[in-house]
Amino acid sequence: MRIDIITIFPGFFDTVLACSIVGRARRAGIVQIQCHDLRDYTTDAHRTVDDTPYGGGAGMVMKPEPFYRAVREVLGDEKAPVILLTPQGELFTQAKAMQLAAQERLVLLCGHYEGVDERVRQTVVTDEISIGDYVLTGGEPAAVVVIDAIVRLLPGATGNEQSPMDESFSTGLLEYPHYTRPSEFQGLKVPEVLLTGNHKQICRWRRRQALKRTLQRRPDLLGQAELTKEDHELLREIWQEMQDDRRGE
Ligand code: ADE
Repeated sequence: MRIDIITIFPGFFDTVLACSIVGRARRAGIVQIQCHDLRDYTTDAHRTVDDTPYGGGAGMVMKPEPFYRAVREVLGDEKAPVILLTPQGELFTQAKAMQLAAQERLVLLCGHYEGVDERVRQTVVTDEISIGDYVLTGGEPAAVVVIDAIVRLLPGATGNEQSPMDESFSTGLLEYPHYTRPSEFQGLKVPEVLLTGNHKQICRWRRRQALKRTLQRRPDLLGQAELTKEDHELLREIWQEMQDDRRGE
């Protein structure tokens, strides 16, 4: 996969995309990530990327020509999703990460100031993504979040093909609690079942815990999760337990 980032702060990405799983995936040739300085696509001596808004008002607006030129030059004759990071975009989810991880190429545009000229959207942008309902100083941290979520899904990136599919959101549920040694810590014991070696029971316990966590913390996810008849029975049991606990308080 190849990802091109168009930004006024190419240095922002230097360390963050050189570390951990993303850094390793780059060194292994699983993903190629290239940053392009938006100012390199300006034509004036001051390398201007922004201007005051037509109609007046506070702040500056990013000019359309540098983004347009940058995308045209970076892509050449190739086609690829061109994604603008913006709080106005579609909310980023695991499903979107999986969809983007299947692409051969992506171009990410990082906005700044009050926003980008609307004609950037109209001419080169194919998708708009928001990483959450809050406003960042620019699209760069959002681009890092999107890249991180995508790269770890690429075959060979984590060295563990099983885990990305098992985890929170891929199954539609939050993950069950994890434990490692020691078996007792600060008086807290690892649940007995995990020490039995009985894989069937362990599997059932984990599923039950995942359902319980999701019901307690993110009940909104249950509507879209793929649930079996047994899951529904477990949920009824957990729900009853929670009611009983409440009455006992
Ligand atoms: N730029 C500023 N805020 C953002 C957000 N929440 N998501 C994506 N890009 C942004």
